[in-house]
Amino acid sequence: MIVAVVAEKGGVGKTMIATNVAGMRASVGSRVLLIDADRQGSATFWTQFRSERSLAQIETQDIQGEAFRRFISVPRVLYDDIVVDVGAGDGPNLDTALLHADCAVVPVRPTGVDMYTMQLMDTRVAEARDTNPNLRALALINQASANPRHQALGLAVESLRVGSENLVIADTVVGERVVYQRSHMLGQTVLEYLPRDERGVEEMLSLYKELYGEEHPAGASQPDREMAHASGGSR
Ligand SMILES: Nc1ncnc2c1ncn2[C@@H]1O[C@H](COP(=O)(O)OP(=O)(O)OP(=O)(O)O)[C@@H](O)[C@H]1O
Ligand SMILES: [Mg+2]
Repeated sequence: MIVAVVAEKGGVGKTMIATNVAGMRASVGSRVLLIDADRQGSATFWTQFRSERSLAQIETQDIQGEAFRRFISVPRVLYDDIVVDVGAGDGPNLDTALLHADCAVVPVRPTGVDMYTMQLMDTRVAEARDTNPNLRALALINQASANPRHQALGLAVESLRVGSENLVIADTVVGERVVYQRSHMLGQTVLEYLPRDERGVEEMLSLYKELYGEEHPAGASQPDREMAHASGGSR
């Protein structure tokens, strides 16, 4: 399955989501290729951090433009899964990714300015479906405030519901948590990071299940995780 993590907006968590998804998928034995279709090379840095720390390697290709288009246009029997990290608002690479993906994940922060850019993504998804009719498209709220009294989340969900005809709002909501930054700098997924951040792990497991339609094995010990959660977890 090809998952493309895309957005018009920069800094919304595309690389964070792409690297976590690729890492989680590889950890269940799937042959995963992470494509860094962003010339900033952030996903490639993440795999380099991994290699410096002797973690299981995730095969990564840093390819954009015509090389990316040629690569992704042909079925790749060597891989079970491909995860693509696309640069912000990158027209050509974004369109290539949407034309070949099974699922597009569009991270969005629950703020007014970010919400407006979802209209553009909605249109791009609609256009891509002319040639890729089975494209699934998920709007994923990222960096939601940990403060339950913060109303931005409810407003964001409502705005997405009204404004996006072609994107489905993911059930998973990803919170603003330091673990996403810390794990990234170590080349880890949130599941690999210690001390374990229960809420971050829960969020990534929930996203994994939404994408692949199956529980990640790390989600199997649900009662243990609930107990840890009840006793505080970490932010
Ligand atoms: N849920 C989160 N909680 C805390 N920090 C986050 C979260 N998601 C992303 N970040 C941080 O926000 C910054 C931007 O994230 P990331 O690089 O993944 O965004 P991006 O969309 O790939 O950016 P770009 O458009 O530059 O490629 C990074 O420092 C990342 O660690
Ligand atoms: Mg990025």
